[in-house]
Amino acid sequence: MKITPEKIFFSPELQAEIKDKFYYVNEDYLGRPRQFFENSGGSLRLKAAVEEKARLERIPDCPERVHDTSMMLKQVKADGIRDIMEVIFGAKPGSGALVTELTSSQVMFQIVRTIMENAPGTNAVTTSVEHPSAHDSVELYCKRTGKEFRVAQANPATGGVDLEEILRLVDKDTALLSVMSASNISGYIFDMEEIVREVRKINPDIYIVSDAVQHMPHGVLDVEKLKLDGCNFAPYKAFGIRGCGYGYVSDRVARMEHHKLLAKPEKEWELGTFPHPNFAAMTAVVDYVCWLGSHFTEATDRRALFVEGMDRIHLQEHSLLLHMMEGTEAVPGLRHIPGVKVCLDSADDLDRDLISAIDFPNADLTQVVADYYKRGITVFERIPSSLYSKRIVESLGLYHGVIRVSPLHCHDTGDIDQFLKVTAEIAKKYA
Ligand SMILES: Cc1ncc(COP(=O)(O)O)c(C=O)c1O
Repeated sequence: MKITPEKIFFSPELQAEIKDKFYYVNEDYLGRPRQFFENSGGSLRLKAAVEEKARLERIPDCPERVHDTSMMLKQVKADGIRDIMEVIFGAKPGSGALVTELTSSQVMFQIVRTIMENAPGTNAVTTSVEHPSAHDSVELYCKRTGKEFRVAQANPATGGVDLEEILRLVDKDTALLSVMSASNISGYIFDMEEIVREVRKINPDIYIVSDAVQHMPHGVLDVEKLKLDGCNFAPYKAFGIRGCGYGYVSDRVARMEHHKLLAKPEKEWELGTFPHPNFAAMTAVVDYVCWLGSHFTEATDRRALFVEGMDRIHLQEHSLLLHMMEGTEAVPGLRHIPGVKVCLDSADDLDRDLISAIDFPNADLTQVVADYYKRGITVFERIPSSLYSKRIVESLGLYHGVIRVSPLHCHDTGDIDQFLKVTAEIAKKYA
C-alpha cells in the first residue's frame, strides 16, 4: 500500500467499535490503567478469537470420526485452513501445503530443514536482522548439509537491508534465500516483490522464504504473487492465540521429502490429530479483518475484504506512527522531546510497520522500561545483552540498544498522546 503524508484515521465511531472487540486495550487484566505498546512481542487479543477457541475446546469428541459433531469439527478445520492459506497467505486453492507447529520458530526450522536437505546448491543466504529462528535455522542446516552460510548486512540508515547487498551474495549455486517481510526492531518493510524478481534473474531456481511473523498483523501477504516457497506467522502476534504457528510451503517444497506418515499423500504436512479450536480462532481473526474491510469496500469476496481490512489497518497504523513522531503543539512527538533519540527514523519517506525504536542515551534502558511500566505503559528494550537482540541491534549500529514501541491499530491518537506525555516525563528524569 502507498503511504501518504496525510494522516487518515478510523472515524471515532469505528475506532470505538474496534476497541470494544479487543481485551485490555486501555487497562491490564487486573483493571489497572495500562497501554500495551508491545504488540511486536505479543498482541492485544481479539475477544472473538479467544472465545471461539474456548467454545470449541469444551467439546471432547475426536475430530476424526464420522458422527455429526466430528463432521462439524472437520468443517471448522477446513474453514480454518482455507482462511489461513487462501485469505491470509493469498495462496491459490489447492496450491502448496499448510505447515502447523506449536510456534512459528518451529515452522521456520521445518521449512528450512526440508529445503536445505532436498535442494541442490552450495550456499544459502539470509540477513543480519532476521529473528534467530530464521537466521539460526539457515546457519544450522548449512552446517549439516555442507553449504556456505552467507549473511547480508543491514543498512543502519533504513533499518533494513539493501537489495544490492542481497544480490551481492546470491549466485547460481544459492539453494535458499531467507529474508523477513518486515523487521521486528525497525518496522522496515522489505520489498519482497523486488527482491524475489531480482534474485530470480540471477538464479531462477532458488528457493525463497520469508518470515512474516512481524509483518502479517500489519499488512497483506501474497505468496502467490511473490512466488515464495515458504512463509510463516504467529497467531499470538496477530490478535489471536498462543500455542500454534502456521506456515505456507509452495507445491515444489510441499512435495519434498519431509516428516509425514508414509501412507499419506505426498503434499500432506499434517502430522497427528489436528487442533480444531486453533483453526476456529484464526477464522475469527479473518472474520474480524473482513468486517473492518467491509466498512470501506462493496466487495464480498473473503480475500478482497481481508485485503481491504489489512490495508485500512496499515493506513491507521502509519498515521499513528506519523502522529507519534511529530505530535502536536500541545503534546510534542518523539522527535521533539529533549533527551529522546529516535533511531532508524524514516516514517515520512518509507512505508513501515508501526514500530519506533527510541533511545535514552543517558539511561539504562532496562530501568527506562520499568519507569514506563510504573506509569502504565508496557514497552520492551532490545539490548545487546539479549540473545534475541544482540546480532540485530549491533548490525544496525545500535550498541546501546533501543526501546521498542509497538502500538496497534486499535489504539488512537489519545493513547499515543498519553505515551508521549509519559515519555517526556521520563526523559526529564534522565536529562
Ligand atoms: C520476526 C519474528 N520472527 C519469528 C519470531 C518467533 O516467534 P515464536 O517465538 O512464536 O516462535 C518472532 C518472535 O518474536 C519474531 O518477532
